[in-house]
Amino acid sequence: MTSAQGPAWWRSAAIYQVYIRSFADGNGDGIGDLAGVRARLDHLAELGVDAIWFTPWYPSPMDDGGYDVADFRDIDPLFGTLAEAEALIAEAHERGLRVIIDIVPNHCSDEHRWFAAALAAGPGSPERQRFWFRPGRGDEPPNNWRSRFGGSAWTQVPDGEWYLHLYSSRQPDFNWDNPEIRTEFEDVLRFWFDRGVDGFRIDVADGLVKDPSLPDVEPGDESPFSDLEGLHEIYRSWRKIADSYPGERVLVGEMWLPDMSRAARYLRQDELHSAFNFDFLVCPWDAGKFRDVISRTLRAHDEVGAPAAWVLSNHDVTRHVTRYGRSGDTGFSFADRLHGTPVDLALGTRRARAAALLTLALPGGMYVYQGEELGLWEIEDIPDALREDPVFARTGGADPGRDGCRVPLPWSGSAPPFDFGSSAWLPQPSVWSSYTAAAEGTDPSSMLSLYRAGLRLREKLPALGAGELSWVSLGDGVLAFTREPGFMFLLNFSASPVPLPPHREILLASGPVTDSIPTDTAVWLRS
Ligand code: GLC
Ligand code: CA
Repeated sequence: MTSAQGPAWWRSAAIYQVYIRSFADGNGDGIGDLAGVRARLDHLAELGVDAIWFTPWYPSPMDDGGYDVADFRDIDPLFGTLAEAEALIAEAHERGLRVIIDIVPNHCSDEHRWFAAALAAGPGSPERQRFWFRPGRGDEPPNNWRSRFGGSAWTQVPDGEWYLHLYSSRQPDFNWDNPEIRTEFEDVLRFWFDRGVDGFRIDVADGLVKDPSLPDVEPGDESPFSDLEGLHEIYRSWRKIADSYPGERVLVGEMWLPDMSRAARYLRQDELHSAFNFDFLVCPWDAGKFRDVISRTLRAHDEVGAPAAWVLSNHDVTRHVTRYGRSGDTGFSFADRLHGTPVDLALGTRRARAAALLTLALPGGMYVYQGEELGLWEIEDIPDALREDPVFARTGGADPGRDGCRVPLPWSGSAPPFDFGSSAWLPQPSVWSSYTAAAEGTDPSSMLSLYRAGLRLREKLPALGAGELSWVSLGDGVLAFTREPGFMFLLNFSASPVPLPPHREILLASGPVTDSIPTDTAVWLRS
């Protein structure tokens, strides 16, 4: 069974990512919340996705947009209450939408009760054993690890010890060698499974286990804090918990690993169900490179019997309309976000439309990051004073951070905040008046109409969703494949139009198509 409504729903699901703070505001304070999501569930049902993934909704000082969790068993008052979350889960289920929530097992907030207890208890205490506290080397931190948000990965506390944080200093890393941490997270999984969630997206899934000798890292060394063998045992125990619940409850890993076959090892039958495919996300706009990354992905996943999960954007990366509209390099890396490189939005939009049809046509599951269905782009000119991402401050402004892809969604109306509360927490550009969900909903040529049509067809056509793909060679700049029964995909990356091959019907196209397919255009054919 491959239908996204059937038992193996996760093998082909289209999953919509809700970044709560920026999705919809229910109480008018300018910050997205659960009431806002509940009021907008119909947008998601009409869009035609199968599931929603909510980024962290737990109590948090919001140093890292909620990825700094102070209590894993409650809801932040900014977002609502536990009772509202339960109501939201039920209302989503009534509409046939499954619910995945974020779990953040690598670290917590410095306001978590366990970190407060560790600070109070002092060096050598069992409370400190839940984290990585170490003496320094003289005045220097215990080793040379760098925080992924910039600066040292260590912060010193008043009694002289240092604690490890791979992210901001307000996100202390848990010590997963301590059995108490394992028991705690197993209990947190049950807490939410008991409340009806259909799965978890696991934050920093490759990072929980550290080499306890905490060695310095030099370029070329194997990482002492990513992809360590001990992780597999953790996920095997999580899988047993997921499998002990009725229905198919799923575990999705967030892993940015350089080697896809290493990532696939986490998708063996008794470990995680799926993991985001980030090689696809970072792929530059080039037919050969896309064909290569798609082939490698499918091969690596086939070896372990897992479905691929395709992603174009999320809350951590530059929105793909902007990436694909950059002159020159359209790839993405955290180290070089190409911030400020000129962008041709018309070009980026044309390509984003083609990329959407590609993603929807590939075997496996796929993700839609809120706002991508409206064709939103990265907002690069946010005033520094309004930037909230700790990346901006920790790099001394060298990296603008991720606020530009987190600007609140425009829902309706002709001026900001476009029905997002009374003033959105980050400023929206006034040209978004043509990009509101309301404006696009009635415009057949909009990005929203394209996503709706693509998702509907994907549900209806037996060739799409889970299954196989066969490549077709139609020349260098053309990406083409067939899927059975009777489906053909074409994307023209080349500089000139390409004649359409024989077909019975044009099912859907990302732009105008006649008997040939123009540059940066994709088409779905009934063959
Ligand atoms: C993941 C999240 C990111 C967060 C980081 C630390 O990469 O996607 O938003 O900042 O983990 O929790
Ligand atoms: Ca609000």
